Amino acid sequence: MTEPSSPLSFRSDEIDEAALDQLVMVLDLQAALPGIQRLRAWAQAALAAAPGEHALDVGSGTGSEVAAFAAAVGPSGDAVGVDPNPGMRLVAERRAAESGAAARYVEGDAYALPFDDGTFDVVRSERVLQHLVDPERAIAEIVRVVKPGGRVMLIDSDWATSIVHPGDPEVIAAIADVMLSRTANPFSGRKLAGQLRVAGMVVDDIGSQALLQPPEFAAGPLIQMIAGEAITRGAITAEQRDRLVADLSEAGERGTFHSSVTMFAVLAHKPQSAL
Ligand SMILES: C[S@@+](CC[C@H](N)C(=O)[O-])C[C@H]1O[C@@H](n2cnc3c(N)ncnc32)[C@H](O)[C@@H]1O
Repeated sequence: MTEPSSPLSFRSDEIDEAALDQLVMVLDLQAALPGIQRLRAWAQAALAAAPGEHALDVGSGTGSEVAAFAAAVGPSGDAVGVDPNPGMRLVAERRAAESGAAARYVEGDAYALPFDDGTFDVVRSERVLQHLVDPERAIAEIVRVVKPGGRVMLIDSDWATSIVHPGDPEVIAAIADVMLSRTANPFSGRKLAGQLRVAGMVVDDIGSQALLQPPEFAAGPLIQMIAGEAITRGAITAEQRDRLVADLSEAGERGTFHSSVTMFAVLAHKPQSAL
């Protein structure tokens, strides 16, 4: 099976500058989507970071949710984002400086968080675990750095819930297979609550939203790239790809296009007597 390559993998620690720019653009587009905005607002309200608290976002990307933490914890608190990509850290730092957010960003890996045990009152991680081959190890690290009584929010997609309409079902299924095989942990969303419980956390709530692709991206570069790989694998023909692109483009123009993936968000806390 082919190893994921950028930018689909979103492994920004391993991508070059052009791919980083593209990833930042995709993250910005997604951040503007109502489903992401609703889930983030719900997650921030459920985590309820308070003045003076210490808050962490693991795989913080462009850093917007660390800035939201910074506003909630205020000058007596600490809001930190950790991401393995130095370029991503610079983007996040620049944006925080421009907006005046007292957020800080450090380079680091979810598998070995550069913090002492029990450092944080709140920890979040969004759409990161799906890209990790060993998500349980990253969750163990999150549990380690949260204080007893502290809160954790894990948000991730589950790619089995991906819907693309219209199109020949066989071609859509071939494309979905490529997508699944290029993602390290594609069914992450359904596993989050169980993984947290196994790691010793108490699950308090579960939320969900769909990430709906806007119609202007109906036959955009992502679907074309994945279709191209399906052709390379011999799963579909070039004619089938062209038919799909035509169907999706037409649907985008007519307002009959639908493409979505469901995201799940799990709120949990670490028992006082924990671990
Ligand atoms: C799809 S982006 C999501 C970014 C951000 N959480 C958001 O929701 O917009 C995935 C992020 O995970 C980061 N990432 C990838 N591998 C990681 C790892 N091993 N540890 C921490 N972050 C990682 C990437 O650098 C990237 O910023």
